[in-house]
Amino acid sequence: MQLVFATNNLNKIKEVQALIPEHIKLLSLAAIGCFEDIPETQNTIEGNAIQKAEYIKSNYGYDCFADDTGLEVDVLNGEPGVFSARYAGKQRNASDNMNKLLNALQDRSNRKAQFKTVIALQYNNQKYTFTGICKGEITKNKHGEKGFGYDPIFKPNGYEKTFAEMDLSLKNSIGHRGKAVSQLVALLNS
Ligand code: IMP
Repeated sequence: MQLVFATNNLNKIKEVQALIPEHIKLLSLAAIGCFEDIPETQNTIEGNAIQKAEYIKSNYGYDCFADDTGLEVDVLNGEPGVFSARYAGKQRNASDNMNKLLNALQDRSNRKAQFKTVIALQYNNQKYTFTGICKGEITKNKHGEKGFGYDPIFKPNGYEKTFAEMDLSLKNSIGHRGKAVSQLVALLNS
């Protein structure tokens, strides 16, 4: 059977494909002829993941899953959260986003934060959501060159390195997205 992963990131698709049963073939958005911007107009991470999965199911007819991720900072009442990608503006620039966050936390001693990924799945006429959380703190400066987004300023609890200083395999094994994906994989394997 076929299952759409609502992304065009082929690396993400490859990673998940390797973990799920062989009879489930993952398709990208391009593979089903979807080249439009899928609406993401909800005000929660969970809402956006569900909206994307429902959009594909109702407009293209495929079983589907979609993910959405945000960085939630304690003293900012969970911001940037659902606005993580465009925190510093429409240009969606990672460096601008990090600078804005470092400024917002200047002189703040509580730097606790968490990454949250929600995966919404539409499968065999059922709907599911899976949440993966990684708790940590925002560093005072950027460290490391690996990864993407806010990785250079996020240090997960229990480690002395930021995500941007870690190998991808370590980040995946302790990270928010990896935790949500393992729950998805467990459901598909059940
Ligand atoms: P998306 O939902 O995966 O597109 O993520 C939304 C935004 O959150 C991205 O543009 C990044 O800025 C940030 N983000 C998501 N996942 C990560 C991560 O694993 N590390 C750092 N930043 C991330």
